[in-house]
Amino acid sequence: MDAFLDQVIQEHRSLVSRAQVTQKKDFVSIIMQLQKDGMFDNLTQDNIKAILLEMFVAGTDTSSTLLEWMLAELLRHPNSMKKVQQEVRSVMGNKSKVDPEDIHKMEYLKCVVKETLRLHPPAVYLPRRTTATASGKLGGYDIPSNTTVLINAWAIHRDPQWWKKPEVFIPERFENSSIEFQGQDFHYIPFGIGRRGCPGMSFGIASVEYVMANLLYWFDWKLPAGEAAEKMDMTELYGLAVYRKTPLHALAIPHSSF
Ligand code: HEM
Repeated sequence: MDAFLDQVIQEHRSLVSRAQVTQKKDFVSIIMQLQKDGMFDNLTQDNIKAILLEMFVAGTDTSSTLLEWMLAELLRHPNSMKKVQQEVRSVMGNKSKVDPEDIHKMEYLKCVVKETLRLHPPAVYLPRRTTATASGKLGGYDIPSNTTVLINAWAIHRDPQWWKKPEVFIPERFENSSIEFQGQDFHYIPFGIGRRGCPGMSFGIASVEYVMANLLYWFDWKLPAGEAAEKMDMTELYGLAVYRKTPLHALAIPHSSF
């Protein structure tokens, strides 16, 4: 990864030095240009590599694991699968391509995304540290200054104090609800909170909705023969994100052949 990022930076550096950046304006070339314009003091090659690595790490597994959990939950809940698939197909009509305008009209799909993020937040622990000078009491505990606290989004999302039937997948709970991804609803924090909240949230949601709308539009989904929905292994595996311990196996049946 280190050698690869060096190479990517080198390629972009030569473009910037040849003033070709306007033709190839991507994330890396924008950082290079800002560096060239003197916007950052002491931005080293290592700093740039760290930024790029963070974008890859934070932006890829989170979205892909969310898609896998979503499809798994829909396979376990045929009524939700039917409802979301009907919505996607009726909004799409006979069009051959999903566009963002269509997705705005897929309200139930948005509820399915929200409910999957509630039960399976890809990033579980949100680390925060008290400032050097501040200390205080929280939930009856004394928190000294400079203490790192891990906020457990998974536990908060399943807290019966906030959620009815917290262990059950019910996308309808988000219908006509004002709960936002990064609002003031601290019992729902799949993208974190405050200034350290996920900067890729809009991109993450848009890409997941887009991929899911396509998967639901083009295919019907079934479990392989002999596998029962109620017996699916939903065990979680904690790593950079929270993955399925048993990868999902599903059969995609092209819708157009019906
Ligand atoms: C559905 C997909 C995603 C989920 C659920 C998600 C969730 C999160 C969460 C919970 C955090 C920690 C926030 C906090 O501590 O308050 C985070 C941080 C971050 N995310 Fe995302 N994320 C997603 C997609 C993305 C994408 C697509 C990108 C970039 C292309 C991205 C870039 C980042 C970065 C750079 C950070 C670190 C921010 C910092 O430490 O200041 N994320 N994300």
